[in-house]
Amino acid sequence: MSAPTTPDASASGQFLLGGDLAVNRLGFGAMRIVGKGIWGAPEDPAKVRATLARLPELGVNFIDTADSYGPYISEELIREVLHPYTGQVIATKSGLTRHGPDIWAPVGRPEYLRQGVLMSLRRLGVEQIDLWQLHRIDPKVPRDEQFDAIRQFQAEGLIRHVGLSEVKVEDIRAARDYFSVATVQNLYNLANRQSEAVLDYCEAEGIGFIPWFPLAAGKLAAPGSVLETIARRLGASNGQIALAWLLQRSPVILPIPGTGSVGHLEENVAAAGIRLSPEDAQALAEAAV
Ligand SMILES: NC(=O)c1ccc[n+]([C@@H]2O[C@H](COP(=O)([O-])OP(=O)(O)OC[C@H]3O[C@@H](n4cnc5c(N)ncnc54)[C@H](OP(=O)(O)O)[C@@H]3O)[C@@H](O)[C@H]2O)c1
Repeated sequence: MSAPTTPDASASGQFLLGGDLAVNRLGFGAMRIVGKGIWGAPEDPAKVRATLARLPELGVNFIDTADSYGPYISEELIREVLHPYTGQVIATKSGLTRHGPDIWAPVGRPEYLRQGVLMSLRRLGVEQIDLWQLHRIDPKVPRDEQFDAIRQFQAEGLIRHVGLSEVKVEDIRAARDYFSVATVQNLYNLANRQSEAVLDYCEAEGIGFIPWFPLAAGKLAAPGSVLETIARRLGASNGQIALAWLLQRSPVILPIPGTGSVGHLEENVAAAGIRLSPEDAQALAEAAV
């Protein structure tokens, strides 16, 4: 009997963030390693530490977090377990404040964003943030003021690359007057394709597209569905097929499934090696419309 092979994120292929920072396309979302409502400490910290420690062994070298996850706790745990980040790219975000479980309020005033950058640097234990993302454009603050502040953070060397989150094509175009946009992180999965135009724009411009909530399949995962039928035939889970479909949908897609369990992490990373036939990929795309 041959030994089971270890899942390897490198099977998903590589992407150059900002044109010069290579990561394996299948990454990890670190929002789920904190308490319920993304508030407070995780229920089982040892389980979460074991999940983070497994990332390098599985070739996962792109980790997405935010100062608001916990808040602070996700960044602190990443530092505790993975610092000094041998080969890992840590992407973080600022711009959302927290007032309790599941409550998120944008604050995009330049001085708050600056504090966000400086405190993430300290918590992550780095001199420069690899990829810093504006979590939300604050509608109460002129967009250009937020972009101009980010341009300054980059000019000062505090952040290497810049990403945006939950934006429209027009926002990306406006931001590019101030800095080069390396990534865009919007809600996107098999069942929710409202960001299709943004994805197409990112692909055309070589901008990384990070789909959040990548495992969701909604009604598509119902018993007897196209998704379930394909998953069964390939001996995979519905979630693995959802991830494989994203990886095949565009070479700029960087899925970041999140989990606080080693078993789920291994299952998710194994999706990096699944190739869908063009017919199956098409059937899934059509079922989702
Ligand atoms: N930019 C934004 O505004 C924004 C918003 C939301 C999220 N994000 C980012 O995107 C990442 C992913 O988004 P998400 O956490 O909402 O969605 P997701 O990764 O698609 O789903 C996570 C959920 O699925 C479960 N799960 C993970 N792997 C599983 C598996 N193999 N089998 C069964 N269940 C599994 C997790 O629970 P267990 O822990 O029990 O596995 C968790 O409840 C986040 O970690 C965060 O970094 C960004």
